[in-house]
Amino acid sequence: MEKIIPQHIAIIMDGNGRWAKKRGLARSFGHVEGAKALRRIMEYLPKIGVKYLTVYAFSTENWNRSEEEVSTLMSLFLKYIKNERKSMIKNGIRFYVSGRKNNVPQNLLSEIEKLQEETKNNEKLTLNIAFNYGGRAEIIDAVNKIIETDEKIIDEKIFSKYLYNSFPDPDLVIRTSGECRISNFLLWQIAYSELYITDILWPDFDEKEIDKAIENYSKRERRFGGVRNV
Ligand code: FPP
Repeated sequence: MEKIIPQHIAIIMDGNGRWAKKRGLARSFGHVEGAKALRRIMEYLPKIGVKYLTVYAFSTENWNRSEEEVSTLMSLFLKYIKNERKSMIKNGIRFYVSGRKNNVPQNLLSEIEKLQEETKNNEKLTLNIAFNYGGRAEIIDAVNKIIETDEKIIDEKIFSKYLYNSFPDPDLVIRTSGECRISNFLLWQIAYSELYITDILWPDFDEKEIDKAIENYSKRERRFGGVRNV
């Protein structure tokens, strides 16, 4: 069967905590391994022709976790940017972060802006990191931007212009660790996305698992509200 490669894959990288707990380790170890899984997938996707990868790295609700865990996630992101900068520049990866800026440490914000600027013309893969991100927050932020403009009538196309980015909608959303929830991820953009849930915990996710997800996606018939072709 012919493999259909999605243009945009979005991933809820879930299960880091459980991965660590199973091994008697602190949750932070799960996040460290999770960052390695992200690197694997980021390096693999351009090789098979996927153009956009959006990952849910920190939600607007994740501030409710312990101070220690929040600080681990902030420093892990900073480390990820520093470690992967050269490889992103070399491999044509456009780095982008979607989310609110409030409460994010200033040194992290500066590194984000710097790498976004340095990679803005790269075309091989766009890596969009949803960080301090919430789907409802994104919609509310768009509405607040719109009421500051002269727009009188809003349609879907105009509304989309005020979201955090103008990337195409995800074709496939993957959630690891078996939970069947969207958890406030890309509420607007996933209206017609295909969903794939796997029991694999995020730190164990690899090239083989993404191939499986794409194979499953290839078998689906996307109808966008239309009727089945017979
Ligand atoms: C969900 O697993 C995962 C997160 C909240 C963080 C995701 C972060 C990474 C994969 C590390 C890479 C991050 C960056 C910013 C590069 P969980 O902790 O909710 O797991 P659990 O449900 O098993 O407790």
